Amino acid sequence: MPLLTRERPLRVNTTAMLVARIGVHILVSIWAALIFYQAFSGALPGDPVQYLIDFTGIGTLNLLLVSLSISLLSMRLKFAQLMKFRKTFGVYAAIYALLHFSVFIAFELQFEWSLILSEIIERPYITVGFCALLILSALLLTSFDRVKRQLGPLWQRIHNTVYIAVILANIHFIWSIKSTEFLPYLYISLTLLLLYLKRKKWQKIFK
Ligand code: HEM
Repeated sequence: MPLLTRERPLRVNTTAMLVARIGVHILVSIWAALIFYQAFSGALPGDPVQYLIDFTGIGTLNLLLVSLSISLLSMRLKFAQLMKFRKTFGVYAAIYALLHFSVFIAFELQFEWSLILSEIIERPYITVGFCALLILSALLLTSFDRVKRQLGPLWQRIHNTVYIAVILANIHFIWSIKSTEFLPYLYISLTLLLLYLKRKKWQKIFK
């Protein structure tokens, strides 16, 4: 039997699902709120702006990878209810990316719009990160059920660009580090493994 594959479908009752969904919302939103609160109250070690940029940047990648793993896990475990979490994690990934961008423009660049534009145009790692942010923002705006219905088959094509976003986000991460660090290479390895495991989906997209 292949790794992580079940014979019989897995199902949990609605109360367990509700508790899990509330738990995810609390964990992801309260965690960010606490970190921001600590940053503003001076309770974080070192440079709070750098801390917030790192926290939201890594957070975006984590949430994006979890969201992309869900369909795979749900299929392997025959656990269809898990799919309800895919959108939740995807939406939070986009929100964390917007927070990451906001911290950068508010605290590093002090809302100097000409500086923001020149950073995006002239620093390649920022350009790449910005492209990933544009994709995630488009996915966030089209994540509502009503918009999904209006877009029809175009919706899926738009949402397939999440794979471009996750690749760009990894390039941005690798490019942003100044010294040899292990973490970005761990993330790119995990991303490539995930893309390999989801290769059937890719083949369908490019057919
Ligand atoms: C989906 C979008 C993005 C993701 C997933 C992402 C992710 C990351 C990650 C993981 C880091 C490294 C954190 C660390 O060193 O621990 C980082 C750093 C950074 N990112 Fe992003 N980022 C994104 C978009 C952007 C955008 C749009 C901007 C600005 C326009 C930006 C500006 C920065 C800056 C300034 C750093 C810090 C580099 C340094 O340490 O000096 N990022 N980002």
